[in-house]
Amino acid sequence: EAGELGRSLGTQVYAVGGFVRDILMNTPNTDLDLVVEGDGIVFARKLATVIGGRVRAHHKFQTAVLILENGLHIDVATARLEYYEYPAALPTVELSSIKMDLYRRDFTINALAVKLNPGQLGQLVDFFGSQKDLKSGVIRVLHSLSFVEDPTRILRAIRFAQRYQFRIGGQTDRLIRNAMQLDMISKLSGSRIFHELSSIFEEEHVLDCLRSLRDYKVLESIHPLLTLTPVQEELLEELEVVLDWYKLLYLKEEPRRAIVYLLALLNGVAENKILPICERLNLTNRQANELLTLRHHTNKTIYSFKKWRNRRGPLSDLYFLLEELPLEGLLFFMAKFNKEDTRKYLSQYLTQLRGIELDISGTDLQHLGLEPGPRYGEILRKILASVIDGEAACRDDQLF
Ligand code: CTP
Repeated sequence: EAGELGRSLGTQVYAVGGFVRDILMNTPNTDLDLVVEGDGIVFARKLATVIGGRVRAHHKFQTAVLILENGLHIDVATARLEYYEYPAALPTVELSSIKMDLYRRDFTINALAVKLNPGQLGQLVDFFGSQKDLKSGVIRVLHSLSFVEDPTRILRAIRFAQRYQFRIGGQTDRLIRNAMQLDMISKLSGSRIFHELSSIFEEEHVLDCLRSLRDYKVLESIHPLLTLTPVQEELLEELEVVLDWYKLLYLKEEPRRAIVYLLALLNGVAENKILPICERLNLTNRQANELLTLRHHTNKTIYSFKKWRNRRGPLSDLYFLLEELPLEGLLFFMAKFNKEDTRKYLSQYLTQLRGIELDISGTDLQHLGLEPGPRYGEILRKILASVIDGEAACRDDQLF
């Protein structure tokens, strides 16, 4: 549809960036980025009349997002020569606008375009050896100022290298080290750093990304107290096992991975040093407090759990001990206190106990003639306890 529209408007339309990269890599990608050699906003609006959806335009950048009814986003950018004033070294007049658009991107693997106009549909536009780099597995920048222009690309290079198990090219590696020497990370806002870190936390090989960030001295450059010691590595290794295990439970609730990873990463850091790190990452007070509270809560829970385990308390006590701890805390708990039976109990809690709901409520107690009051809560909890312990007994019976 986009290609047809392009033809009727007399403009070239391209799919670009991650979408094209992931088609060639055979990996799924649901974000579509379009570049139009013409007015991107007008194009997005016209496209919406054909395929539906809402358009949000950013006139300053001449871009638009088309949000489809199924929730998918199509980003539409305008490729225009006068838009790019640099890099000055380039003989701009000789470049087509799509070439300029691709040239200002981060890595060759992200600088591929596919023509969408009918007659040319599917034609690859590869000015910078992107296909070769995709084949040989190299992360390579397009020009030597790339990391200075945008230091978040240092974190992106590491993320893509780990995601696709590519290596960072020799010259690109030198440019990263060079940018690090120029202390470019300190020029980044906390929000941009946190945004990049959060993207890393969504990856499959988080720990390897963090190791690489440490080796390039990016972690310490974000904040001197942000380290990755062997002890932290061990905890993060355990955390990855736990997160993979949780995924296989196919439960509805998804953990906020940034929180779990931050808890682990900040585990060895003294309490009074946490806030300054949060500030560097520009976390809101609310986020920082949540992190600190969760850390306390998890440690307290581990302490109570040990006591419960030693005295072999009833299962309902385990339920009451864990019920207030958010999922992120539970997963961090499992990684931190990785005794063999911890996983057994927490798994039982997550899969069987956590979702338990009573069939009776306060209204039922009222019908029984009980005066409403705080006793209601107590009674309901006693019933819940007997259901949990009864269920457990029943399960044991079935087992033996
Ligand atoms: N881009 C860039 N420099 C950045 C961020 C993004 O050049 N600092 C370009 C890249 O060409 C990238 C495109 O903008 O392909 C879209 O960015 P984004 O959506 O962040 O990346 P994707 O490549 O789609 O990666 P992901 O698969 O992680 O979404």
